[in-house]
Amino acid sequence: MTKRIVAFRRLKESQLDQLRHEFHVDYFERLDSADDPAFRHALRQAHGLVGAGLRITPEMLDDAPRLEAIASISVGYDNYPIDELNRRGILLCNTPDVLTETTADTGFLLIMATARRAIELAEFIKRGDWQESIGDAQFGSDVHGKTLGMIGMGRIGAAIARRGALGFGMKVLYSNASPKPALDAELGAEHRDMDALLQESDFVCVTVPLTAETERLIGQREFARMKSSAIFVNIARGKVVDESALIDALNQGHIHAAGLDVFEQEPLPDDSPLPHMANVVALPHIGSATHETRTAMAQRAVDNILLALKGERPISLVNESAWNG
Ligand code: DGY
Repeated sequence: MTKRIVAFRRLKESQLDQLRHEFHVDYFERLDSADDPAFRHALRQAHGLVGAGLRITPEMLDDAPRLEAIASISVGYDNYPIDELNRRGILLCNTPDVLTETTADTGFLLIMATARRAIELAEFIKRGDWQESIGDAQFGSDVHGKTLGMIGMGRIGAAIARRGALGFGMKVLYSNASPKPALDAELGAEHRDMDALLQESDFVCVTVPLTAETERLIGQREFARMKSSAIFVNIARGKVVDESALIDALNQGHIHAAGLDVFEQEPLPDDSPLPHMANVVALPHIGSATHETRTAMAQRAVDNILLALKGERPISLVNESAWNG
């Protein structure tokens, strides 16, 4: 019997061909809602899913009795109910490694753009306000030589830290579940508890995954501990931060500015003040969004699902217990 796949993110023709060579593919180039009747119908027969940006609920799994594997086109897997997947023996695969450097570029872009006020000052020119030499009112803050505090030191955190230490001569501090002696040696990085990191850092950059433990990890208490000159950068997930506490901290001058690629609600609701604040650089979740990297991520997901549905171990497996169980 030919297995069936539901693909719910845009894939290249060559990637679709690879899948169609092995499986029957129901392809939704753009899926606006998980309630789309054609999608729900396809789900009922699916052995595999490939896609991203869709919250998969236990109820959806109830409607997908044949499902064996999901290949997410993302490194983050907070959209998936891991315990339910484990219970049902459904493999979950993600796309680490191929997006590390691109996402770190985005992190550093936010550090630079926020410190040097690049977006705000580009708008200043567009408005025709550049009528005389700029002065104090347009000055920003240095990045080189400052202290970069990384909350989370996984692959992406380490890639940002490397840019800071080796490219910009920054002192790197990090708070992480465990110290990373190899990075300490490579970058002169120093492990700190969270409070010490918040107090000492000029830039505080969040890269932890969203889990039950990290939800709202950064709130009023944490912003109160940062320097008033601190710049806060989030490229992890919006829900790691209490967004209203962030808005208060920015408005009340507890911190200087923020660079944000992720938000509690995405797309940002129309009434969010964040994109309109002069001391905020807000981006529409572009972390890994380059042509090269999104193609590589989709290819990793295709490779993962091909292996998983043939009973072979996928390249990047999230839930070992479903594989072992
Ligand atoms: C991921 O891969 O989890 C990213 O957030 C998508 O850009």
